Amino acid sequence: MPKTVLLFLSLLTWVGSTIGAVTYDEKAIIINDQRRILISGSIHYPRSTPQMWPDLIQKAKDGGLDIIETYVFWNGHEPSEGKYYFEERYDLVGFIKLVQKAGLYVHLRIGPYVCAEWNYGGFPIWLKFVPGIAFRTDNEPFKAAMQKFVTKIVDMMKLEKLYHTQGGPIILSQIENEYGPVEWQIGAPGKSYTKWFAQMAVDLKTGVPWVMCKQEDAPDPLIDTCNGFYCENFKPNQIYKPKIWTENWSGWYTAFGGPTPYRPPEDVAFSVARFIQNNGSLVNYYVYHGGTNFGRTSGLFIATSYDFDAPIDEYGLIREPKWGHLRDLHKAIKSCEPALVSADPTITWLGKNQEARVFKSSSACAAFLANYDTSASVKVNFWNNPYDLPPWSISILPDCKTVTFNTAQVGVKSYQAKMMPISSFGWLSYKEEPASAYAKDTTTKAGLVEQVSITWDTTDYLWYMQDISIDSTEGFLKSGKWPLLSVNSAGHLLHVFINGQLSGSVYGSLEDPAITFSKNVDLKQGVNKLSMLSVTVGLPNVGLHFDTWNAGVLGPVTLEGLNEGTRDMSKYKWSYKVGLSGESLNLYSDKGSNSVQWTKGSLTQKQPLTWYKTTFKTPAGNEPLGLDMSSMSKGQIWINGQSIGRYFPGYIANGKCDKCSYAGLFTEKKCLGNCGEPSQKWYHIPRDWLSPSDNLLVIFEEIGGSPDGISLVKRT
Ligand code: GAL
Repeated sequence: MPKTVLLFLSLLTWVGSTIGAVTYDEKAIIINDQRRILISGSIHYPRSTPQMWPDLIQKAKDGGLDIIETYVFWNGHEPSEGKYYFEERYDLVGFIKLVQKAGLYVHLRIGPYVCAEWNYGGFPIWLKFVPGIAFRTDNEPFKAAMQKFVTKIVDMMKLEKLYHTQGGPIILSQIENEYGPVEWQIGAPGKSYTKWFAQMAVDLKTGVPWVMCKQEDAPDPLIDTCNGFYCENFKPNQIYKPKIWTENWSGWYTAFGGPTPYRPPEDVAFSVARFIQNNGSLVNYYVYHGGTNFGRTSGLFIATSYDFDAPIDEYGLIREPKWGHLRDLHKAIKSCEPALVSADPTITWLGKNQEARVFKSSSACAAFLANYDTSASVKVNFWNNPYDLPPWSISILPDCKTVTFNTAQVGVKSYQAKMMPISSFGWLSYKEEPASAYAKDTTTKAGLVEQVSITWDTTDYLWYMQDISIDSTEGFLKSGKWPLLSVNSAGHLLHVFINGQLSGSVYGSLEDPAITFSKNVDLKQGVNKLSMLSVTVGLPNVGLHFDTWNAGVLGPVTLEGLNEGTRDMSKYKWSYKVGLSGESLNLYSDKGSNSVQWTKGSLTQKQPLTWYKTTFKTPAGNEPLGLDMSSMSKGQIWINGQSIGRYFPGYIANGKCDKCSYAGLFTEKKCLGNCGEPSQKWYHIPRDWLSPSDNLLVIFEEIGGSPDGISLVKRT
């Protein structure tokens, strides 16, 4: 054959195999005409830095993943209406291209509602103020905004040729997120919204299938998928759809005030093997790498760390034995792929709680031997051979004979990551004065106003100010029985200052963000200045109509024990100031921090509302870095102008950290660590945010802490 013809022919086959359709049948997703058993893992691009991405993706590949799954974070991409941002940590196309370069597929979950413990579930805040809007229902303004954003993302992907049919890595895409339960609660408008967004997605003609998770009524051709700790019993809504698990929770998130959940690798592996032996064909770990909620990106009371006990830890290091155990599982599953995609299982009970599932086709045979007993190891006989099955485990036999993997037998060494202190810092401080009602940057309004409606979430902070006049005839001035100040706030945290002195701080929790401040306060004759700093700790990301939940001091605000009885100040005229002075001065930037006079001196006394700054040299080596903030209470951290996130070691993890066994059904409350300790004491500093020397570290402390106790740590 002449050379040119040969070249043409090989080019043809090359094109045929790379630019391929993605379809599905009852067995699996079909890529380039092949049914595939696919292992996927979530890595959310804005939760790490672009410099970290290649390594994370490589570690995912080495861990046996075929697909990287990510949500698309609308509020990161369109922070104000019509102004888009796709740079740095939000370089979505760059991230997808790196995945492609590594030879992996992408599942793009556009949402644009994402939940994800992400601020406002991914919705941009301006959306809240679109006239006539109601989120996630049959509402024209909402649908228009959603369609515009989804279309923008899809068009961007097409332009960059990122869909598989264009030769790109995207093989799947998700619309909405866990809408089923909402639809069930709101009824008819929910149903028509579902119909609408399904059709809207299909009309975008991406060339690859769309999925909807936790949505039983996903209309054809969309595939409904399962989320949970286990999904073996899930059944897609049509027999011709494959069984897909979009979120196998590899652990769970930490909330400020909560302990740190973990999920034993044996149980994660067991859940995956069980799903696969029950005809599952695609499983995604939510999350494979959780990362960090930098800046103000975390949802209500969600910690800055989004470690999640994932196979790759927050800092980008592999977590053993979880990562290695799952890698070995993936290898075993992959060696069963030919049998899994071509045969239906025959099920035989080998004992009371033991079963064999055999996938046998003309050319392949794979078997799964399961022991569902939560405490007993059992010897079974399978095809005339004896097998030992540990409790709550599945053995995988890719040739129906030899066990290559058992989910409860971890053959990988475990190690404990350590935070090694490297150095402490010398600090300068700058006092943030409680706001004054008479300053230029304050506004007044009749009554108490919802926080986010004023701040538009540009800052966590809003001052509520009031003058309290005390007449010389007030009885308490003589008796010394101070009046009781009561402040009711919808959340999330409140610092009350009287005449410039911190009177107290109260904070809510993820379960109940609302708070009440109630204290007898030392008032003097004349005008007393009440300044209350109301602080949001992330906006809610989940719950029915979470987008409408309030924050801030909504009252009543009363003073009890006066001559007149109780004074209700709720309807008074209040003064408001948005944000901190230090924020408007950009104290966390080089320029801003040089614009004010900082004080050197003893910092042993815990001071509320204080800015601290220091500079430091980057330590040698390439171990990930962090800050041990345990000596501080609550605030925010910036390195070279970049926000590391909120810190809150003052919030102690409340919970029961009992010993936990891998065997038996897992829930997010089953295996907890860190009880009685700060929910989060270490804060990740990405190395690529540092220069070799003179790194500017700025901290804003709200309640009072000892910065001398802060240390730079490396994770080894
Ligand atoms: C799911 C949700 C995810 C994430 C997860 C909990 O219900 O779809 O976005 O929030 O829960 O970590």
